[in-house]
Amino acid sequence: MATKEIPKHIGIIMDGNGRWAKKRLLPRVLGHKQGAKALDNLLHSAKGLGVEHITVYAFSTENWKRAEEEVSGIMGILRDYINKYFREYADSDFRVDSVGDLSALSEDLQRDIEALKEASKDKKGIHLTIAMNYGGRDEITRAVKKIAQEVKNGNIDVNDINEDMISQNLDSAGTPDPELIIRTSGEFRTSNFLLWQSAYSEYYITDKLWPDFNIDDFKDAINSYMKRDRRFGGRNEVVK
Ligand code: FPP
Repeated sequence: MATKEIPKHIGIIMDGNGRWAKKRLLPRVLGHKQGAKALDNLLHSAKGLGVEHITVYAFSTENWKRAEEEVSGIMGILRDYINKYFREYADSDFRVDSVGDLSALSEDLQRDIEALKEASKDKKGIHLTIAMNYGGRDEITRAVKKIAQEVKNGNIDVNDINEDMISQNLDSAGTPDPELIIRTSGEFRTSNFLLWQSAYSEYYITDKLWPDFNIDDFKDAINSYMKRDRRFGGRNEVVK
């Protein structure tokens, strides 16, 4: 039986900005800039579809290895993006959030992100989570440390640790797991994105480069998901 419900949470690996720029003989940072525009357009067009949570991979724990110029370019785009939302937040209904270890980001960026989270926390529109300095393994490691500390302090017993407790100690605590993860630019990798949360997510891979990805592509991904069989490791008893 095909899944009929629209996914409530969609994760997006926005890949291909560099290739988009290279094809046009432009610097990579301009590809990321165009990627930020594509995200903005998509978020505004996605209102009303019924998708409640969108998590986008903006900067991974591994992305620090890129050239300094590219890293500072992406940080500048993130800063502009957060500020743009801040200027618009009173009129906009997005709830903005983050996952990832923000402590490695510049202090002003950390402050702006925290202020935007606080200012938008009661908004009822799409819950947008930006993954910044994010790695799934890093997130799980930090959750394990928090839980170990609780055991050490005598607040919980080792036998109390269960999957739910681990979920509740991740950065994404309180947000349902994504039913669908979209990856652009044709790569078949998870790249350390939402490792714990994506245990049963459906993947949708498209060859489109992220700056070219638009609302029609987003709807194609959702339609593909809605036709799939989700069995969560069990068996589908319906004879087709
Ligand atoms: C992957 O493309 C993309 C990134 C590492 C950064 C994504 C950032 C943005 C879309 C802009 C800022 C984000 C927000 C939330 C405003 P790539 O550089 O790996 O592309 P390539 O594989 O073609 O080289």
